[in-house]
Amino acid sequence: MTAPSHLPGPLLDELLAVALEAARRAGALLRDGRPADLAVAATKTSAIDVVTEMDVAAEKLITGVLAERRPDDGVLGEEGTSTEGGSGVRWVVDPIDGTVNYLYGLPSWAVSVAAQVDGRTVVGVVEAPVRGETFRAVLGRGAFLGERRLSTLPAPSLAQSLIGTGFGYLTERRAAQGEVVRRLLPQVRDIRRGGSAALDLCDVAAGRLNGYYERGINPWDYAAGELIAREAGARTGGRPGEPLGGELAVAADPSVFEPLQELLEGLGAWHD
Ligand code: IPD
Ligand code: CA
Repeated sequence: MTAPSHLPGPLLDELLAVALEAARRAGALLRDGRPADLAVAATKTSAIDVVTEMDVAAEKLITGVLAERRPDDGVLGEEGTSTEGGSGVRWVVDPIDGTVNYLYGLPSWAVSVAAQVDGRTVVGVVEAPVRGETFRAVLGRGAFLGERRLSTLPAPSLAQSLIGTGFGYLTERRAAQGEVVRRLLPQVRDIRRGGSAALDLCDVAAGRLNGYYERGINPWDYAAGELIAREAGARTGGRPGEPLGGELAVAADPSVFEPLQELLEGLGAWHD
């Protein structure tokens, strides 16, 4: 895949540099500034959908970097930032993807920063400071973990595939998701629930999972990670023929993408 011709290389270079700076600075703040007595500051869609003071602080830091470096761009952030901008570039930001892991001191959480031009993601950075990992991709230029170029991991069959997934915060949705997992588990090698959709997509990119699916994730969860997975060779989508989105997100090595997508369709993974 090559970059759209209307996007000059220097613009992509600049967007990548800004994304890396914002994600790294927020990641350092979150890693080094995590209070020992970190508590839930607020809840969102349900009592278990939590926000900590650090989610809010990290989003503020990121939006500050973006306002300084790219003042004319729009920004959409999980913790409430929503600005239009006039440049055609929009940033899609999750200050902590994996907030529950962060709250409990588990290592798999990340800062996710994506830049979109005319609605298409062209740059993605997923910064996981406790894992010591920075994933990045630019449209048409491949995906990287540090200096290592990433590629997805083929599997001989779906039955021999390691599949990641996640669960939403609403009781009714979780009940439906649990039912899908119950029926999927006997048909795959095993299931992983890492706790960060952004990192699940990066783990597909890095060949640590053969595939990943989830219903109900939001643009800030998947914008950067989907580009990283695709640039590493993954196929991504939703229900058959549909793009990846909130209804259903599927990302997998091409060897198992279609069997996984078809099985999920049959299991009703796209509805509650
Ligand atoms: C959540 C994580 C989790 C996924 C949830 C997301 P948050 O994001 O990505 O892995 O299963 O659907 O909402 O709340 O930690 O930013
Ligand atoms: Ca998230």
